[in-house]
Amino acid sequence: MSKVLILSGAGISAESGITTFRDSDGLWENHRIEDVCTAGCLETNGEATHKFYDARRQDLQDKEANYAHKLIVELKHKYPDKITVMTQNVDDLFEKAGMKEDEIIHLHGFLTQLRCTVCENIYDIGYKKHNEYHNGNCPNCGAELRPNIVFFGEAAPEYDKLTLALNSCELIVVIGTSGNVLDVTYFAQLTDRSILNNLEPSPAIDDSYFTKAYYAKATQAIAYIAEDIEEFLNDF
Ligand code: APR
Repeated sequence: MSKVLILSGAGISAESGITTFRDSDGLWENHRIEDVCTAGCLETNGEATHKFYDARRQDLQDKEANYAHKLIVELKHKYPDKITVMTQNVDDLFEKAGMKEDEIIHLHGFLTQLRCTVCENIYDIGYKKHNEYHNGNCPNCGAELRPNIVFFGEAAPEYDKLTLALNSCELIVVIGTSGNVLDVTYFAQLTDRSILNNLEPSPAIDDSYFTKAYYAKATQAIAYIAEDIEEFLNDF
């Protein structure tokens, strides 16, 4: 089991030009969660939901990984068994930085994939619109395809792996999340040591539970964080 868990959120991709959810002008200021990201919204509001994720997917095409993604990939490759990497992000910027599929866990799904609503097969469609892939129908069983995204109110199957990682790691590193969905303050209390990096304090996070907090852009904080992680690992 890994000693270090690196858990990221939208803030790590902000400097690559991907809009966060809850910062000013964030995605949830301009779209209603109930309309496009809640269990059942495909049935009640299918067109708008697909339009929203088609736009997010297309937006990814020209986005590039930043220094924070790249340094985390470097660390993961240097300490493959000692570091676990998980992200709430559905973008592919860690992959663009060189992370392989089995080296990262996307807790909330993956934007470039569609999933069959019946047989649950998963298809990588790149940056295409939902309808441009087999007219939005499953090539295996013909049923409707949906974004492979975890909506509010739906089960998040990868959370089991998060629980396991939290039970075994000794250092948690949290980067670029407001803590509104995952209770990172609680996670910090479960581990011996904890590091937080956000642009600014979040009302949903009590940073007094963290061993260290960096309030700075992720691309600026990441070199210090990498040093902290290496120091921690080399103490063993
Ligand atoms: N560097 C570091 N942190 C940053 C940066 C940056 N350049 N820019 C913004 N941040 C921080 C903000 O301070 C904020 O705390 O990133 C955080 C972004 O928070 P949210 O927009 O709430 O994103 P996140 O916490 O990842 O959202 C969790 O909510 O809607 C769901 O499923 C969606 O996975 C997402 C989940």
